[in-house]
Formats: sequence, C-alpha cells, structure tokens
Amino acid sequence: MKLLGPFSQIVTLRHLPLKGSLPDDQLEVINKGAVVVINGKIEAVGTFDKLSKEYKNIQSEIIEQPAVLLPGFVDCHTHICYGGNRSADYAMRIAGKSYLEIAKAGGGIWSSVQMTRAATEEELIKSLVQRIDSHLKDGITTIEIKSGYGLNTDEELKMLHAIKRAAANTNASIVTTCLAAHIKPKDFPGSEKEYLDDILVNLLPVIRKEQLSDRVDIFIEDTAFSSANAKEYLLAAKAIGFHITVHADQFTPGSSLTAIECGALSADHLEASRSNEINALAKSNTVAVVLPGASLGLGMHFSPARELLNAGASVAIASDWNPGSAPQGDLLMQAAVLSAAEKLNTTETFAALTYRAALGLGMNDRGRIDTNMMAHLQAYPTMDHRDILYNQGKMKPFKVWN
Ligand code: NIG
Ligand code: FE
Repeated sequence: MKLLGPFSQIVTLRHLPLKGSLPDDQLEVINKGAVVVINGKIEAVGTFDKLSKEYKNIQSEIIEQPAVLLPGFVDCHTHICYGGNRSADYAMRIAGKSYLEIAKAGGGIWSSVQMTRAATEEELIKSLVQRIDSHLKDGITTIEIKSGYGLNTDEELKMLHAIKRAAANTNASIVTTCLAAHIKPKDFPGSEKEYLDDILVNLLPVIRKEQLSDRVDIFIEDTAFSSANAKEYLLAAKAIGFHITVHADQFTPGSSLTAIECGALSADHLEASRSNEINALAKSNTVAVVLPGASLGLGMHFSPARELLNAGASVAIASDWNPGSAPQGDLLMQAAVLSAAEKLNTTETFAALTYRAALGLGMNDRGRIDTNMMAHLQAYPTMDHRDILYNQGKMKPFKVWN
C-alpha cells in the first residue's frame, strides 16, 4: 500500500456520464490531492491532508514539484505493429498525388503488407516495443494494437504472436485486435466474400484457441469491404465469441450503421458521417472513436466530434498510429488540435482520452481516478490542469504509474 502526493491538482474524471456533452463545471478537480494505491488499484482519493491522516503508517511517495494528476490515457485504436515505413507515400501525398496514384506507384496499405511480411517476428517485436514504450512515456497506459498487415493466416498469426510477445515485454496494458479484414490481399485468388470466409474458417478459430485476441475489426469502404459482406463476417465472428469494432465512414458514409446493427463496441473514423449516422450513434451504445491523427496525416477534415457529442454519443479520441495515414502517433497533440478545431472543452477531451476510450474497448475498470479503478496514473509538471491542452501536446507527463 502506498500514498502518492501531494498533487497540486487531481483531475478524477469520476461521476461523469458515459455519453453526450460535458460542461467543464462538472469536472472534479481536487486541490492538494493524494491517492492511496494497493495492489495496482486505487484504494482512496482525496486531499493530501485527509488521506495522510487516515493512512498514517503506510509508505508514501512524496511529490516535491508542481504536479497535475490524470488517469493514464487509453489509446483505443492503433496499428503500431508493422514493418518498414511509408514516407514515400507521404511525400507523394503532400505533393498532391491522389490515393490511386500512390497505390499505382506501389504505395498504400498493400505496401505495408509486403514490408510487414518481409519482417521477422523478432524485428516486428523490436520496433513495436519501441512504439509502445514511447506511448507509455507519454502517459498512455492502455494501448489497443491491430494486426492487418499480414493478410493471410500465417502472416496474421505472426503479427498477433509479435503483439503478444511485445506485450509481455512492456508495462503497458495491451489489447489486441484481429484486422485480417483490412483489405482483400492482392495475392488472394478468390472474391471478397471468399477471403472473409477463409479468415472465419482458418484464422479466427486459431486466434481463439491460442487466446491471441477476442476482438475483430473490419475496414468497410469502397476500396476495402462492402457493408453486406462485412455484416455477415462480423455476425459470424460474434457468434464464435469475438467483440466487434469497425473502421467506418472514413471516406463514404453509412458503414457506422452496420457497426451499430452488429452491436459493435466502437465505430472508428467517422470523417464522412452525416446526421443520419450521427443520430444513430447517439442512440446506440457503440462508442464513436474519432482519429484526428488520420485527418492530419491525410490532410482531410476532422470527424464531427462536436456534433456527435451534441447529439448524445460517447466520443473517444484515438491516435490510429499507423505507417500510412497516421504516422506521427502523438495522441495528446492530436487531441489538443482536435479540441481547438471542433470545440471540445477540457472535460470532453480528457473524457475522450480516458474512460470513454476504455468503454470503446469494453473496459470499465480504468480511465477515472476513483476507488477500485486501476492505478494507471500520469503526472504533468504544472499546477493548473488547463495548461495541458493549452500546450497542445508539448507538455508531457514527468511520471507515469501503471
Ligand atoms: O485506419 N483506414 C484504414 N486503415 C488505416 C490505414 C492503414 C494504412 O494506411 O496503412 C486507418 O487509417
Ligand atoms: Fe485505423
């Protein structure tokens, strides 16, 4: 058991609703606060004065500097297991080349598949651990990681094994998702539906048996999979015990409706969502995950986060860190820029990075500083929590506990 404090401020994020907009005056800030941690969980949170009297004889970690304590962030959508990079794609994109021109020049998702297939499992683990550790240093204590650059049974399993082994080598909490349905690989001889059937028959049962993941994702888009095929695939995956998440409404609207219909935990991207999709998300329990890093990487507009919140949706922000559309990976910077562009206030932005992102992963044991929550915590070198978004990602935590 350990007492941590005093913190200039503790931003608890507790007692806030799962869905909808959040006024800043509902954000609980405890001045001169402390937390008591036992076996990796929070035992108590309150003022340092009160808790240091109540827990007199326990070990304490005294915080000597100005410090604002937040829950560890949850990045509920990444693709950080990959080989190679796509800086050539990026150079073409900023020079004005289209998606099609880049794909024709040998870029796009398929080029990451080739580079990832060419990498050994050990090589994937090495770069993956570096990316996980850089996220962890930035206060991101739970990280979702997708496969999806293998795109056949053996190569998807190589990626999933690499993620499992990397997870065992870091202190971050890792959640793994199978994205074998990213695109139909160019070397698969059959139809889109035959490819999805192949995953269902040959890959998903092995993933269950080896306990590599209990989540399935699919990219629904004109350039990837149709909503009709995706629905069949997702329902079949669900029937064998997988939770579901969808890459939805990125360039064309409508696929978030399929996600909701299939009971997905989250629908992610949503740049192209219209009022129809926004209202359906608001009525559902599917978390709307917006990915400002992909908008920044592709040079396109942000997802309608403000409208989603106003309509009553649960909005989470994730990095989408991947070699193509979102190569940069700084979640806090991306959230700060999104909040300025979309007018998300401090409470909504922090909620989107913590307990609402956890909800997108089906987790309710993290993302708030409260009794019985995981003691995943991060402290920033300031006395005022508003300095964190004000610095637009430049201010990083000086200490992370997880
Ligand atoms: O989430 N939209 C599809 N998939 C990724 C991009 C992956 C890539 O370009 O390698 C995304 O943006
Ligand atoms: Fe993605």
